Amino acid sequence: MAVIKVQKLTKNFKDLVAVDRVSLEIEEGECFGLLGPNGAGKTTLVHMITAVSLPTDGDIWVLGKDLRKYPRRIKAMFGVVPQIDNLDAELTVLQNLTTFARYFDIAKDEARRRSMAALNLFRLEGKSGSRIKELSGGMKRRLLLARGLINNPRVLILDEPTIGLDPQSKYLVWQKLRELKGQGVTQLLCTQNMDEAAVLCDRVAIMHRGRVLALDSPKGLVERYVGPKLLEIEVGADQRDSINQELQSRGLDFEDAAGTIQVFHCDADRLAQELEGLSWNLWPRLATLEDVFFRLTGRALVE
Ligand SMILES: Nc1ncnc2c1ncn2[C@@H]1O[C@H](COP(=O)(O)OP(=O)(O)OP(=O)(O)O)[C@@H](O)[C@H]1O
Ligand SMILES: [Mg+2]
Repeated sequence: MAVIKVQKLTKNFKDLVAVDRVSLEIEEGECFGLLGPNGAGKTTLVHMITAVSLPTDGDIWVLGKDLRKYPRRIKAMFGVVPQIDNLDAELTVLQNLTTFARYFDIAKDEARRRSMAALNLFRLEGKSGSRIKELSGGMKRRLLLARGLINNPRVLILDEPTIGLDPQSKYLVWQKLRELKGQGVTQLLCTQNMDEAAVLCDRVAIMHRGRVLALDSPKGLVERYVGPKLLEIEVGADQRDSINQELQSRGLDFEDAAGTIQVFHCDADRLAQELEGLSWNLWPRLATLEDVFFRLTGRALVE
């Protein structure tokens, strides 16, 4: 049974369709990624799943139970790390955790024990008595992660968990998320970090303008939309037409991407050899999820 199942989920803000009939299922124990440009609808989708906001239309089921009917019971299973920090500025770091634990009816001593453990985990033990305003941006993010684990959640819902973290902290969080996955914790992860999605996620949905454009394993997405290796060709303005013509005459799948032309679904090494005589500046390279992202969502900024 799917841990989270959403069906034709829709959210309108006046005339704007922020989430547009999205259907997907998140399986037990998987890390499911949501990728998409700013404004794609990721956070809006997560807000509906975590019962922060009501859908305009469509259904959400958690372990077969209708979220509308059992919001409290279902929310108790979730650990949520929101995109926007909603820590309590009046309280200390430790108090933020112990107070949060109370929402889950965790006894006082146990709340303190778990809070200290969570602070240790995210290397915040030295800050337990500090006020929130004394924390750096990355420390606040780590505290949100610590808070999200306080109820030993069966499902973790993370909206950009590593944004603003230094590389050391980012790897620490990745390692922790992997460990939790090993313990069977299901994860829904919104991210702008393509490496993060490729490293952590079993499956990834790419969202754009409220819709899911593609859904597969990172490797599956790369193979389908780009091919395992692609060829990059640097183009000067005077070469553009002739390169375009040559590639077209070979029936290749290619795109002009601001300064370079990328050739997809090709035997990149062989093609590089064949084109050697043309004195173009070119190089084959491994394709990434970022290439898929650009192919599906375009290179222009979405407003
Ligand atoms: N409370 C709101 N009222 C009106 N419009 C909203 C509201 N929340 C979000 N939107 C709009 O809905 C769309 C989706 O926003 P959302 O925050 O879900 O995007 P996102 O994919 O999470 O983007 P980002 O990567 O920037 O976090 C955007 O066009 C946004 O302006
Ligand atoms: Mg968002």
